[in-house]
Order: sequence, then C-alpha cells, then structure tokens
Amino acid sequence: MRSAFREAFGVEAQAEGHAPARVNLIGDHTDYADGFCLPMPLRCATRVAMAPAPAFAARSEGHAASGFDPFGPPRGDWTDYVAGPLAELAKAGIEVPPVAVLVASDIPQGAGVSSSAALEVAVIRAALALAGTPLADADVARMAQRAENLYCGVNCGILDQMASAAGRTGEALLLDCRTGTGRLVSVPAAFRFRVVHCGEARRLADGVYNERRRAVEEAASILGLSALRDAVPDDVERLPAAVRARARHVVTENMRVLAAVAALEGADLSAFGRLMTESHRSLATDYEVSTPALDRLADAMLAAGAAGARLTGAGFGGCAVALLPPNIDEAAWWGQVSAANPEAWLVAG
Ligand code: GLA
Repeated sequence: MRSAFREAFGVEAQAEGHAPARVNLIGDHTDYADGFCLPMPLRCATRVAMAPAPAFAARSEGHAASGFDPFGPPRGDWTDYVAGPLAELAKAGIEVPPVAVLVASDIPQGAGVSSSAALEVAVIRAALALAGTPLADADVARMAQRAENLYCGVNCGILDQMASAAGRTGEALLLDCRTGTGRLVSVPAAFRFRVVHCGEARRLADGVYNERRRAVEEAASILGLSALRDAVPDDVERLPAAVRARARHVVTENMRVLAAVAALEGADLSAFGRLMTESHRSLATDYEVSTPALDRLADAMLAAGAAGARLTGAGFGGCAVALLPPNIDEAAWWGQVSAANPEAWLVAG
C-alpha cells in the first residue's frame, strides 16, 4: 500500500485506515425500525492510505486519479464515498486539510456485503489517524452513516456502518439499532457460514428500499409508535392491508434475531439454521425484496444440505448466506449448489 501510494502520488502515505465487509447473518430491514441485526465481518476489506496534498485527489484500482471537493456538491461517482466522510469529519470540528487518498479493496461491489460502508469507515479511520484524533467505533459508524445519508443521498440505516466499524473477526455483533450499541457474540467453530453471490447484481435497489422504509414508518405511525421495534404480532394484524405484510416482516424478524442469538449462545445449529430459512421466506413473501435468482440459490443451498439459508443485506440481487452442518462435505455441497446456479460464485468468508 505504501509503495502504491508513493507511485500514485509521489509522496509517502502518512496514515492508513482499514475496514471489513460484512455478512448479515439475520435481521434485515430492521435497522431503520430501531430493531435488531446480527452481522459478522468478512475477510475481504478496504484499505485507505492518505497524506496531505496540494489539492483533494483520490485514486482507486480500476479508476483514474480524480480531484474531488468535500466542501462542494457531490459528483455522483465513487469519490462521493471519500468526500462525504471527510465533509462529516469537518462538520464534527476535525481539521480536514486537502489530502491525497489511495483506496485498495477486495470487497465485491454491489454484492450487498457493504462495500460502501467499508470505504466510508476506512476513510474516516485514515483521516482520524492523520489528525491524531481518536473516536469510538460507534461514533465512526454514525459519522459514516450520516455521510451516506446526507452526501451520497442513500437513506440507509446503521447496520452496515456499525458492522464494519465495530465488528470483530470470528464474532457476530448483536446490534440494537435504537441505542446504537452492539454486543459481540462468539460464533462456535462448528458454525460454518458461507456467502454466495447469486450472479445477479443488485438493481432498482434505492427506489424500492426507500419505498419499503416509508411503508414501515407509516405502519409505526398508524400504531402510534415511534418505531416498529415496539410493535407486537397482534398489532400487525390491526394494520391496513397496504402495510401489514411489511410490518409483519419487521416484527417477526426482530423476534428471530433474538432467538438466533440464543441459538448461537446455546450452540444450537439447527435452530439457528431454521431461523435463517424462516427469515428468507419472510423477506421473500412479506417484504418482497428477494428475486428468482436469490430464491433459487437459497433453495439449492438447502437442498444440498445446508442447515439454513437466506438472502443477506438489502436483497434485490447480491448475496445469500448458508449455514453448513458440521458433517457436510463442503466441496460436494458447493458442487451441487453451483450446478443448480451456474452464475453463482463464493465470496471470501
Ligand atoms: C442495506 C442498508 C442497511 C440495511 C440493509 C437491510 O444494506 O444499507 O442499512 O437496511 O440494507 O437490512
């Protein structure tokens, strides 16, 4: 990274930031309802190197060096995910001098494993290191989320940024999105999760995402609640048909996350797997964010012997995650899954 930086900008890097991708094991489309999620970091990650420079400039593999301005309007390209976090740091009173920024990442983009959150978090970490200012993980995550909401114009919740900033390798993170706090839950060695891309890029994601978010907010307001986190299953049945199924997903998904944490702590692999599969059904039927390719992939993962399988992240394409039972031959499992889904590929766990 250091020599690549020297080659790109002709000066030495002075600070670095690092942030991983995540897989969400269970608890999707609950974060913006103040609910619960259970993400876990993946091995793939984004690294950012930085040094003061005469003007703001960014460079990433596959992209030519490009000027940008965190104090000006968004450019509508990948540099917004560098500029937005720097703009938020400046708003928080941290000095942001013009910098050269080099980005290196092995996170697949548009796969639903949080490549944008990882870039935002890595930029903030590098800039904090440069400024010599420490900041708690949860504050880094909130700053990254604000950058994505305000500068990049994506109305996401806190799941991805918290997972990337506060996650620890080999541990799941129980996120309480109301308090913005996380509790690490260790994952027994017998729990082998495998993340697979269905081969179909996420599409139409932002519009449909915002529409789901509005339905969930409307359901809470009809019930007189500040968020659906406070609703119980009986409340759901009183809702008008237009928002009932969306609310049912959120309410039952929150219950599944808490049950999944109990299953993890009790090393009950089959219970965890069952909850994952129920979660997929709920996302597909009540929340309607799955696609035929994701359904086919999750079905094939189960047919080949997984204890549970579900889409992960926002849906509309991207990845699914499976939990393999201890006795399964992984190569044979993958052989069967990929034969039924020739476009699918394994994401580095
Ligand atoms: C995207 C958003 C997150 C979350 C998930 C669905 O990844 O960025 O905030 O809402 O979708 O769980």
